Formats: sequence, C-alpha cells, structure tokens
Amino acid sequence: MHANGTTRQLKVLYLAAEAYPLIKVGGLGDVAGSLPRAVRAVAHQETELPIDIDICLVLPFHGSIQRHGRSLRRLASYNLALPGGSLPVEVRETRLDEVPVYLLSGAPISQEAPVYSDDAGVDSYKYTYFSLAALELTRALAWTPDVVHANDWHTALALYAMRRGEEATFACSAGLLGVHNLPYMGDGSGAALRAFGLPPADDERLPRWARSTPLPLGLLAADHIVTVSPQYAREILTPEYGAGLDGFLAGRKDSIHGILNGIDTRQWNPASDIALAANYTAETLERRAANKATLLDEFGLQEGERLPLLAVVSRLEAQKGIDLLPPALEALAGEAWQLILLGSGSHELEEAMRQFAGRFPERARAALRFDSGLSRRLYAGADMLLLPSRYEPCGLSQMIAMRYGCLPVARAVGGLRDTIHDVHGSTGTGFLFAEATPQDFASAIRRALDAYQDAALWESMQRNAMAQDFSWERSAKEYIHLYLHASKEAKQKRRGSP
Ligand code: GLC
Repeated sequence: MHANGTTRQLKVLYLAAEAYPLIKVGGLGDVAGSLPRAVRAVAHQETELPIDIDICLVLPFHGSIQRHGRSLRRLASYNLALPGGSLPVEVRETRLDEVPVYLLSGAPISQEAPVYSDDAGVDSYKYTYFSLAALELTRALAWTPDVVHANDWHTALALYAMRRGEEATFACSAGLLGVHNLPYMGDGSGAALRAFGLPPADDERLPRWARSTPLPLGLLAADHIVTVSPQYAREILTPEYGAGLDGFLAGRKDSIHGILNGIDTRQWNPASDIALAANYTAETLERRAANKATLLDEFGLQEGERLPLLAVVSRLEAQKGIDLLPPALEALAGEAWQLILLGSGSHELEEAMRQFAGRFPERARAALRFDSGLSRRLYAGADMLLLPSRYEPCGLSQMIAMRYGCLPVARAVGGLRDTIHDVHGSTGTGFLFAEATPQDFASAIRRALDAYQDAALWESMQRNAMAQDFSWERSAKEYIHLYLHASKEAKQKRRGSP
C-alpha cells in the first residue's frame, strides 16, 4: 500500500488462505503466490495501461509461517468489532517480490491449527474472523480498495460483509470471487456467522441451505465471479458440476468469467530444475532419458526398449478419479507399461493404491507421500502423466508435465480440457477421454501407448507440449482488464453516474 502522486492507482486487495512460498497446501497456494506478483509485474511493463496497479496480498499468519522464522515487521494492531464485544487483530508485513503481504493474527487463528483442519467449527471461525479482519485492515490503514479479490469459501465472506446494508466504506469497491473448487463451500459455518454478526442472506435466488454458507454468500455478493478455467465456468452452470448451485449460477451467468491459471515458469523449468539428474530443453530432448533411467533405478524397475513409464502425481481423493486407475490398468495388463504413483490423501485410496502396486510387483510402484523433489523427477523422467479427474477447475500438474515433455492422459473436464490438445495427426499435446469410467480411461491410455511406439510422433508431441505458453503473464493481463472493468462499473453503479 503506497501512494503515488502522479499516476492514478487502482488498489486491489487480494485475499487468500494460502500463498506460496509463505505457505502452500494446494493449488490455491500456487495461484495466490503467483498471480498478485504477475499482476504487478505486467502492470508495470504495460505502458498503454491507463492506470498503475497497487495490489497487496493478505493472508492469515498461520503457525507454520511463524515457525518458518521469517523476520516480520509488526505494522499495526486494531480491534474487530463484533456483537457484544471486539477481538484484537495484529498485522505483520512482508513482501513477495514487490508485492506487500499483510499477515493477520488473532485468537481465532490458532498457532497450532493446520491451514485447513478436519473440524468445520475451527475453520469457519478462523476464516470468518480473517475475512472480516482483512476488510477492517483497509480501514485501519486508510487504504480503500477499488477491487477486493477474494478466493474460495475461506475469504468469500469478505465480499458478503462489504455489501451489508450499513457498510458505506466499500460502496464503490468492486468485489471479485475466485472459484478454485466449487464443492468446498464452508459448510457448518452457521455458528461462526452468528458469532461475527453476519445474518443469513434473505435472497430468494439462493437455495435455502446455502443462505448461511460462506461460498454461496460470496457468490451472491460478488460483482464478478472468476473460475480458474473457461471450461469450468461453463461446467458450474450444469447439474453435474454445479454442486447444487447451478440454478443460482445460471442466473449470474453474465458475471461469470473463466481465466486460465498459469504456472511459475521460472520455478518449473526442465532446463534449470536442480532436482533433476539431467537438465534439458525441447532441443535436447534426448537428455531426458537419463532422468528416466535414474527413476527406474531408484524404484527398482527394469529398463526396457520403448517401454513407457506412466506416472501419477496427485492428491489421493475422490475429485482426482484415482479409483479409476486400478481397473483401467488391469484391463491393460496385456500391454507393456510401467507405473510410478506419487501421492497421499484418503486412507482408503492409499490402501487401494498399495494393493494395486502389490498386484504388479514387477512394474508398478506406489510412493504414498508428498515429495516435491520426486514429483519433479517424475515430470522429467516419466513418459505420460495420468489425470482421470472427476472434475478439475484448472489443474496445474498437466501444465507442468507438458512443460517437462511428459504427455498427459486426462479426462476432458475443466482446465484439463482447456490446456490439453488431443492428438490429431502429428499435432496434439496429450490424450483426452470423455467419461469417468475405467473403459474410457483405458482406451485413452491405449491410444497413448500406441502413439508412444511411434518415436517420431511422440517427439513431435513432446515438442508441441513444451512450446505451450503457460506463463502467468497471459492470465495476469486478463485479470487486469477485469479489475479495470469491474472497478469502473462499481463506481458508476453506486454513484449512479453514467
Ligand atoms: C484447486 C482445484 C485445481 C486448481 C487449483 C488452483 O485446487 O482443484 O483444479 O488448479 O485449485 O486454482
């Protein structure tokens, strides 16, 4: 937050539960760690932009950030008023490149609790407090945002609170809600809402069950809704993917946008990734073989002539369709393939993967853990990445895999469908399938296994995949245009001027 005397500034308050590298649990952490920095960088490069963009990121001061031992300046403290009392909030400041980051702490943000706990009560209280405290921060610093960009259920209530009847401070601020995963809505937050004085919505458009649930309240209050891929923006309007809100969302269709996430192309670069046995580019693809050989050796798997190595790098949960893997590969038991699976998550799926690998002791391995070094070695050494997601708002690993020349075999949903081009002649960057069934999945894997036997085709597909532009710059430009549009519209609407 800084003033600039000459250029007009658009102030953007970006709210998230996590942001890499300060704290990362899932894909939201990657996005919140990259997008604000990219917005700032692009805004400073683009000379034709009518305005300078001052974006800042606000995060809860989670215990794990604190234990990381960053030296953080205490910036301010203030009180958050609530029915029958108030709660103190402390603010610390750090930076991610040029982007100011404000870390909020207070009693509901327990130092012992993980970022997301299994206890809906704990999380709803923490994130309701955080959402309201983040809005209050702008008042404490006398910095009224032009745009408040909240993300997922954790911060959706900031938008709802902004639009409460008596709230005048934010009358001309636009509210944007980023949707990274619609079914996670913050269920069980009723008590927290009451404790913080947020009444249920009385809007008939929302289904009754959704009127005291954070994500739907944010979707109701937001001026614009942004999903993390264009395809997911269409899918959430259907009963299959709408999580019970498809009817409501269809009524908000004109305010829903899909902007594809990027990946951090500095962090994910096979030419410089220090985790790899051998670095390579699209021009030196032959060096990739050393990465595969190292992996096979590490996992005690035999090398073979054009024997494809399949990889899974995934959280093990229903969304990811991992349960389709054993029946699909069992149907392909007569084909030549090897598999290394890396992932952790639900107990049942971990057990199922352990058993599955046990049935193919000579060619399948399951590493049931989180291991970022191994994930990099898999992208760089495996031939194919399997992604049978039931739904996928965007997905980052297919973009990383393609950048590393590992071709995705994926379900044609959400961001997977937007980023992967199914093979067609010698063009294409991967293999897609339509239905979440073992049969459809197996037939896409079979197509990939066949294509792999044509070395020239495979290499040209790898080059196509590696040449895609998945940088954040492209997304950041789209967000900047939306910020400008939303801010102008909010000011016109609320001031009543044309
Ligand atoms: C969620 C979604 C994933 C998306 C990520 C970042 O984790 O499941 O598809 O890539 O958010 O937006």
